[in-house]
This record gives sequence, structure tokens and C-alpha cells, in this order.
Amino acid sequence: MNQSNHYPADFTWGVATSAFQIEGGASADGKGPSIWDTFCLNPNNIKDKSDGTVACDHYNRYREDVSLISSLNVDAYRFSMAWARVQPSGKGAWNEAGFGFYDRLLDQLAAKDIKAHLTLYHWDLPQGLQDDGGWLNRDSAHRFADYAHEVARRFGNRVAAIATHNEPWCSANLGYGNAQFAPGVADAKQAIQVSHHLLLSHGLAMTSMRATASSAQLGIVLNQWTADPATDSEADRAMAELEYARSVQWFMDPIFKGRYPELALRAHGQNAPVVHDGDFTAIAQPIDFLGVNYYFRSFCSAETPPRTPPGKLGFTDMGWEIYPQGLTELLVKLHAEYMLPPIYITENGMANPDAVSGGKVADPERIAYVQMHLDALKAAMEQGVDVRGYFLWSLLDNFEWNSGYAKRFGIVHVDYETQERTLKDSAIWYRDFLSAQRQR
Ligand code: FCB
Repeated sequence: MNQSNHYPADFTWGVATSAFQIEGGASADGKGPSIWDTFCLNPNNIKDKSDGTVACDHYNRYREDVSLISSLNVDAYRFSMAWARVQPSGKGAWNEAGFGFYDRLLDQLAAKDIKAHLTLYHWDLPQGLQDDGGWLNRDSAHRFADYAHEVARRFGNRVAAIATHNEPWCSANLGYGNAQFAPGVADAKQAIQVSHHLLLSHGLAMTSMRATASSAQLGIVLNQWTADPATDSEADRAMAELEYARSVQWFMDPIFKGRYPELALRAHGQNAPVVHDGDFTAIAQPIDFLGVNYYFRSFCSAETPPRTPPGKLGFTDMGWEIYPQGLTELLVKLHAEYMLPPIYITENGMANPDAVSGGKVADPERIAYVQMHLDALKAAMEQGVDVRGYFLWSLLDNFEWNSGYAKRFGIVHVDYETQERTLKDSAIWYRDFLSAQRQR
């Protein structure tokens, strides 16, 4: 690995998961259903017709999983809370048994000296709120702020960081734009209105959490990419500019500039969201950190059929182009465009068709992927971007949304029949890499 790849001593190294993808315990101890529980009831929605009822059974195995995390030498663990576990219908009474699970998880993490980075919403809206209109209903933003307040009040001094949302782009565009994700709606206008309510809910939650005066760093996690024109043609360049405005700036501008990007607003035309007076003030709250999830770039081709990305470094099992330099380019561009708070790379990793053989899992592709992205991250830091941490996605193989269990993102292999965990070579590599970082 690149010898210059030494990071600041206080850089945070972690692994990441999310509730629905690993917990299971779908109706344990009073948990209410979420929109993903409902979405999985229609087997056509999930490629392998699976669901999250058991997943990695983390709900019952969290102690062993925290020991596993600890064995990897990481400083921090990023996970999400299942809202419907702690508030079964998304409004009204709190479920103490649900909070009890996260209380025990936090105890385990503290006992192993692992910092907790909590995400409030990783796509699993309580079905009760969906029944009231979900994120299309503006009131959900207020319900979310109440939930955020309660979590910060209870746990805000026991976690290092709280992120409001994970990838609201996905909640809006895959959940409401093309029906690939729960709740399975395909309606461009609704998707844009939903994105506004998600942003509003983020801002209201920042304010409600600040009121608890908790010590946690508060922020949001956005999936981001650069948008590259496939060729130098005017049409491709225009498409790339619009794509960047609709995906990256659409979420960044309201938070950092208190407005939507003109180019995207114009393109949305009649589908532009209904925005109330004061919404941008509510949204543009100062944040303590920005989480960036990076997997690939957007490759924009206006031709028919569109040109496909060259993939000089190959493609992952998701079909995603491996393009580490995009991480450098993205971070440097964001740094030039916005007054950024400290950044954490809250997700980065790859799916690979891994299998256990002789008690081992050889995944050299994943090791190379992570190394290349860490080099790219270092390059951005050398250009002045203030990055404070990196979280590998994911700790465990898990329920990869509409791909079910067929796509393996873990650095730890999970046998879903036995729930046996096996460290992949990438986990051993990461562990040793982190131990070398510490010995400097
Ligand atoms: C991100 C999600 C995460 C996981 C990875 C592969 O978009 O946040 O849950 O599915 O992709």
C-alpha cells in the first residue's frame, strides 16, 4: 500500500451497518412494522424474495457482534436505530423494550471503548406513519423531530455522533421516484416533494436535538458522486451539470446555502416542491459534521443508447464502476463550493461474490478497492479537505435492500443458515492496517 497513506492520529476508523439490514427481530419486544417489512411482503420487490425478519440476527447476537467489531481494531461503529422499535407506530408512546436494546448495545460498545455513531433514519419508516401518507405528508417531518429529540435526550451523551438521515436521495428517488425501494412509489413529483420533507425533517431534528444540549456531534449523511460527461459533447456536459444539480446540490444547497439550486429547480418545472415560508431557515441549521457515502461516479451520456462507463478498474458485483479518483474529485469540489464542517466518509465498500473455502474467504478485490479509496481519500485531505474518519461498508454481509442477501458487502462473511460469522481476508487486512496506523 502507498507508504504516504498515514492518517492523523485522531482519525476515526470504523465499520458501518444499518438496522433493517442486520437486526432481524422484526416484531420482537413490541417493535412495530416498518415500510421495509411491508415492502418485503411482496416477493416481487426483492430479487431473492427474502425479507428482514431474521437478517443477521444481530438483535440477539449483538454481544458477539460487538466483540467482533472490537477484534477489528476500529475506533467506531456506525449503526442505525429502527424507529419502529422505539416508537412502534412512529407517534405516541415510546417502547421501553425497544430502547432497551439500544441501551444494551451502547453498553457493550462502551465496555469495548468503541465510539457509537448513530443514524436515526436508514430508510425504515414506521408503517404507521406511512399509513398517514409517509414522507409525502409534511407532518412526518414533525414526528421525526420528536423522535430525534427523544433519542438525543436519552442517548445524546453516550454516542459520539448522531446523523439525522442516511442518503435522503435514495429515500426520495428510489422510494418514490422509481419504486425500487420502500414504499414502492413511482412518481417524479412525489419524489421531489418527499425530498423536501426529508430535508425539512433533518432541519427540525437538528433544532430539537440541540435543545437537549447533548454532547454528540450532529449532522447528516448524504450519498454523493461527481457527474462526469461521457464525452465532451455539449449534450453530455449539460446532462452532467444537471445531474450534479439534481442529486448533490439538491441536498447540499438547502443545508449550506438555504435554497435549492436554480438549474435543478428549473428542470423540475411543475414538479418543484411546495415550500413553506421559513422552511429554508429550518433546514439550513449549522451541522457539526457531514457524512459522505461514496461508491461510484455518475457517468452521463445523452446518446441513445447511452455510453456506459469505461470501468478501467472493473465493476463490483452490483455492477458499479470502481472509480476511486471520483472520491478525491468529489471532496475537492465540495470543499470549493461549500463552507464544509468536518467530513466523515460514512460508507464505502464493495459487493463481491464471496464464499467460504477451508474456513477462509479470499476477497483480494475488496482489499484493493478499499486501499484505492483510502489513497483517494488521502489525496483529498492533502488538498485541504478536512476529513475526520472513514467507515467501511459493511461490517457484515447483510440484507442489501431490493437485492436481498445475494449481494455481499461485508468484511465478515455471514452464513445465513447457521448465522456463523467468518472474517474475510479484507477484515484481517483492515485489522492489521489499523494496528499499523496505531503503532506509528
Ligand atoms: C448505501 C446504503 C447502505 C448499503 C450500501 C451498499 O446506499 O446506505 O445501506 O445498501 O449502499
